[in-house]
Amino acid sequence: MQNDPFSASKVNGESAQTDYLRLFEAMPHPYLILKANESFTITAVNDRYLSATGTARAALPGHGLFEIFPGNPGGNGGIGVSELRTSLERVMRDRVQDIMGIQKYDIPRRDNSGGFDVKYWRPVNTPVFDAEGRVTRIIHHLEDITEFVLERERTSRENSEKAERVRERADHMEAEAMRLAHERREAAEREKKIMAEANRQLDEAYSRLKDIDRLKSMFIASMSHELRTPLNSIIGFSNVLVNEWAGPLNGEQRDNLAIIARAGKHLLGLINDVIDVSKIEAGKMDVHLEEFDLADVQRELYVMMGKDARDRGLSLNMEAPSRIMRADRQRLSQCLLNLISNSLKYTERGSVHVRALPPPKSENGGNGHLHIIVEDTGIGINNEDARNLFSPFVRFNSHLHSKEKGTGLGLYLAKKLAIQVLRGDLLYEPRSEGGSRFILAIPETIHESTGSLEIHATETATKPLTRV
Ligand SMILES: Nc1ncnc2c1ncn2[C@@H]1O[C@H](COP(=O)(O)OP(=O)(O)O)[C@@H](O)[C@H]1O
Ligand SMILES: [Mg+2]
Repeated sequence: MQNDPFSASKVNGESAQTDYLRLFEAMPHPYLILKANESFTITAVNDRYLSATGTARAALPGHGLFEIFPGNPGGNGGIGVSELRTSLERVMRDRVQDIMGIQKYDIPRRDNSGGFDVKYWRPVNTPVFDAEGRVTRIIHHLEDITEFVLERERTSRENSEKAERVRERADHMEAEAMRLAHERREAAEREKKIMAEANRQLDEAYSRLKDIDRLKSMFIASMSHELRTPLNSIIGFSNVLVNEWAGPLNGEQRDNLAIIARAGKHLLGLINDVIDVSKIEAGKMDVHLEEFDLADVQRELYVMMGKDARDRGLSLNMEAPSRIMRADRQRLSQCLLNLISNSLKYTERGSVHVRALPPPKSENGGNGHLHIIVEDTGIGINNEDARNLFSPFVRFNSHLHSKEKGTGLGLYLAKKLAIQVLRGDLLYEPRSEGGSRFILAIPETIHESTGSLEIHATETATKPLTRV
């Protein structure tokens, strides 16, 4: 009974009905009471409904719902008519409440400004039953869910704004990353260019340096050559005088001339070394290949150095078995002469020993190197000094240093000759019993194909070999 205020009058009289009506009309939410017939005749409407829909009370009761609202009222959206009909029919058929989807239906402002307030509604249709359980009426109620919808919109807007901000940041970061990558690429590119330029300059400087070095060496070689001619005259003519071939000399004159001749020879030795060093460094060292017996070379060296050894009270031992070689005889002799004269200079007592060890048999047909060994019982060379032994202009401190003349070019030159002309090497090792041991390790036979980078040897029957 309470469900149907309009039948209450039958029970409680006029005043009760009026009370219910007033109550109904004062409801804060919009209500319509519809008859459960085909046209859903409106039987009651409350004030809130009228103000929400902008309709006058007089127009409504007794009319079918869809007569009053044939389409979307007010033109500002509205409750979907077909949805409403479906919902109402469902209520009648299924006899249960039906909650419709959200509807936007703005209501005219109360201030008569002609404007509308944004409103969202959720229509709810609820069946009203009679005593027999038949659906007699339907309460059509509009739930105001504006707050809820606006709040949801706001959150979703905020969320999408947040998402937008995140996306913007991501975009920004991506752009930044791309910019950095680009910068890095450009920097690498710049670095590459700088490096290439630096390399080019280095190459240029190197080739200029090589040119200058070659020029320097050539200059020294030709200058030295020019010096050699007058020096030979000085030596030759002082010898003529010393030997009194030009007439008798008194004792003082002879002594002085002997000093001139000695100094001249020393100077010639220096100049010859300097010429050889410059030639080797300029890659202009001539190579003369010939066949000879190593024993002959050793005999010649003995003739040259024997007297010096005797004068020093040293014994010079040569083991000179016959051994046929094919190499640059003069340069081999020069190397050995350097080694023997060093040994004589830096040995105060004992002996200097020269011997040749044949290449080890295992090395197939004598392709291994012949070892020509020059060793002495002299002052030796300490390990520290031995490291720089083959550097140019190096002479080591010892009590013999000032007594023995030298330029410090001898071993440097000998090593160069050993490697570049004789195609082997010159090595040093200290003797355990004291003194030094130099090993000239060279091939016995140099074939034309054994070319070195700097010097190319060719041979003709009569002409000396020259670099091409
Ligand atoms: N057999 C040796 N025993 C000891 N010291 C040596 C010997 N040979 C060379 N040296 C040391 O090596 C230095 C360099 O030798 P070298 O290049 O021939 O120059 P130089 O003979 O003109 O001094 C010598 O000054 C000397 O100190
Ligand atoms: Mg020397």
